[in-house]
Amino acid sequence: MTLFDPLRLRGCDMRNRIVMSPMSQHQADEDGLPKDWHLVHYGSRAVGGCGAILLEDTAVMPAGRTSHAALGCYDEAGLGAFRRIVDFCHEQGAAVGVQLSHAGRKAFRDTRGEEGSLSASPVAFAEGWSIPAAADARTLEGIVASFARAAGEALEAGFDFVEVHAAHGYLFQQFLSPLTNLRDDGYGGSLAARARLLLQSIEGVRLQWPEERPLLVRLPAGDGATGGSMVTEMAEVAGWCAERGVDLIDVAGGTPVFEGTRVSFEEMLAFGRMLRASNPTIPFALGGVTDGRAAEELLRSSGATLLSVGRALLANPNWAWAAASELGVAR
Ligand SMILES: Cc1cc2nc3c(=O)[nH]c(=O)nc-3n(C[C@H](O)[C@H](O)[C@H](O)COP(=O)(O)O)c2cc1C
Repeated sequence: MTLFDPLRLRGCDMRNRIVMSPMSQHQADEDGLPKDWHLVHYGSRAVGGCGAILLEDTAVMPAGRTSHAALGCYDEAGLGAFRRIVDFCHEQGAAVGVQLSHAGRKAFRDTRGEEGSLSASPVAFAEGWSIPAAADARTLEGIVASFARAAGEALEAGFDFVEVHAAHGYLFQQFLSPLTNLRDDGYGGSLAARARLLLQSIEGVRLQWPEERPLLVRLPAGDGATGGSMVTEMAEVAGWCAERGVDLIDVAGGTPVFEGTRVSFEEMLAFGRMLRASNPTIPFALGGVTDGRAAEELLRSSGATLLSVGRALLANPNWAWAAASELGVAR
């Protein structure tokens, strides 16, 4: 398999294996809607040859935004702003997805959390951040419903695929991690209970999201902290996601469950290998490369289906075409 082989995931065609990683840009308007800025930002990477563009973390409800300038998909009246980006990227030959998220206790980093933030348990992200409230049953129902509704809106905006964000210390990882989930109800304790909110949300999204369109989940390679989730546990969660209709696991980069913690590239690779060994039928995406040769080598050696590219694409919107020249592939 090479970097420039096309791919069909369910009914979604990609011209190559390069997907632009979701990367928060904090450039949205006060209602969480994209501006011309986003059209140029994502559109130029589609022009630059990516097989797929994955829009940055986009909150499913206002309280889940990572900052006051983060994207949000909860305003039906504003869907046209997303549709414009999707249409333009399609015209340039790229598939387009959106990463649906809720930041939980990491919401509103620009004010170090906000009164009223929520999480699995009242454990703050870092010193100086607000202490979140433990979500009650009604709030949890609202979260599941918001992910499903946002998927319906993503469909209306024309997205080809959606990704549920369960990494980077956001709400779902706050539930998955024994360091941040101290609950003793049905959402805390065993791994199955800690994964319950994520799995219920995936079920809700899958019901709204058409059969022919792919559903991705971004999972962390563990918490990168002593006493936290292990990579082996995340591989088990990946299997449960796949049973609920998830088509591809997007292995996350650094996944800080607390400020300062980090998961290394080696751990991400190990997660990919573990997925391949334990769930050989589940496709996955890996990232962390800077040039075409390294990308192709990683794709080959890891068995990944997609290669996600982040910072290299920020540095060079034409990264995909540059990789094609490097590998001697005709455009
Ligand atoms: C500025 C920036 C913003 C990011 N925002 C997100 C995000 O919104 N969602 C996410 O899952 N990952 C996010 N990431 C992580 C990237 O998607 C990617 O996994 C990471 O940068 C490693 O890949 P790279 O080495 O190709 O950059 C972000 C990374 C950067 C540099």
